Amino acid sequence: MHQVKELILKKRDGKELSAAEIAAFIEGVSNQTVNDAHIAAFAMAVWFNGMSLEEERNLTLAMRDSGEVLAWPELDGPVLDKHSTGGVGDMVSLILGPLVASCGAYVPMISGRGLGHTGGTLDKLDSIPGFDSAPGIEKFQQLVCDQGVAIIGQTSELAPADRRIYAVRDVTSTVSSTPLIISSILSKKLAEGLDCLVMDIKFGSGAWMSNPADAKKLAEDITRVSCKAGVPCDALITDMDQPLAWSAGNALEVIEAISFLTGEARHERLRSVVLSLSAELLYLGGLAASVDEGHRQALSALDSGRAAEQFAKMIAAQGGPADLIHNPRRFFPDAKVIRPVFAQQSGFIDRIDTRAVGSIVVSLGGGRHSAGDDIDPRVGLSGIRSVGESVNSDVPLAIVHAATESGWNRAADALKSAFEIQQERRELNPVIFGKIKGKI
Ligand code: URA
Repeated sequence: MHQVKELILKKRDGKELSAAEIAAFIEGVSNQTVNDAHIAAFAMAVWFNGMSLEEERNLTLAMRDSGEVLAWPELDGPVLDKHSTGGVGDMVSLILGPLVASCGAYVPMISGRGLGHTGGTLDKLDSIPGFDSAPGIEKFQQLVCDQGVAIIGQTSELAPADRRIYAVRDVTSTVSSTPLIISSILSKKLAEGLDCLVMDIKFGSGAWMSNPADAKKLAEDITRVSCKAGVPCDALITDMDQPLAWSAGNALEVIEAISFLTGEARHERLRSVVLSLSAELLYLGGLAASVDEGHRQALSALDSGRAAEQFAKMIAAQGGPADLIHNPRRFFPDAKVIRPVFAQQSGFIDRIDTRAVGSIVVSLGGGRHSAGDDIDPRVGLSGIRSVGESVNSDVPLAIVHAATESGWNRAADALKSAFEIQQERRELNPVIFGKIKGKI
């Protein structure tokens, strides 16, 4: 590709690339005429100089069009999805997909694996015996049409240019570029053929964005690019300064998501995020006349058991046990060593280093240090206490599920360091920090 050098030069010098130039670059990524050195230089030029809204839209569309774009011609409801920037104990997708489908939407959810200290929906689902998270695109579309919802992993058919670009970014310190993050996330979501999208942009010690201002900026940019690319999108900005629920770890999160769906136990912060995102999506998709009405519909789907039933159908249709939700613990073997960890002093939890909590799960074997690592689905944390709760010699910080005694000991030490205890109870931050309406 003779003009690729010129194009990199133009971006390096802070000039704006045209739609045709961006499309040619992505075509070269797909047909291998652009090599890894070109991609690295391009990514670094974007990292330093950023991109205009128009460039971000054009890059997103070119990457979306590098593979198949799903079409849904004969459905009687809107095609909706949600994306989260990732956190710890974030099992929202497992609940929201079936919940929104049980309200009349179609949800073709393509989800990712854990990244760094954050968990991934795909790893959680893969802990379910028999569950097929890679059924192929045709079967996936059939499942969505028949069941209303299916959740699978990324496939080489959808937005393949992102896979190649991401691999280069990963080894060239260019992941953390807002235009590259936006085009990477949106190209994959838009390839699902969505009518509307809702984003959960997280900030805090367990998120990739450490503060609300950065999260707000990303939310504004990503909703704007999505709307400009033709898919209406709103975003909620949510707090990830503590794990979102009681569990962190793959099978443990599936078990908690099931007990949430069946009504056995619902963590208040998780409930708030699930209902708020679902309400936005139902409203955006035209299934509810207002966000409040969407909230009522989502709550009724939960409380009537419809969402739980929809989850059960989805799991069975993708090869998992038909009776998973009736006795989930039967299907997940216990980790070898399961014991509570107590704080060194009594008091109120004042702060949680949530990134450290996520890293404990990774170190126990519940996440990956490098791409090819195997995951142990049994390990992780349950009963994680929240900020503001009191702990003492009877009430532990959390229960550690480890594969070995030495793993448990290391996790217990790290867990004690991740929790800060004070004698006075701190005012809690609300979990929903703000909302950004996508603007065209
Ligand atoms: N997730 C993605 O899919 N892409 C990014 O660039 C960052 C997070």
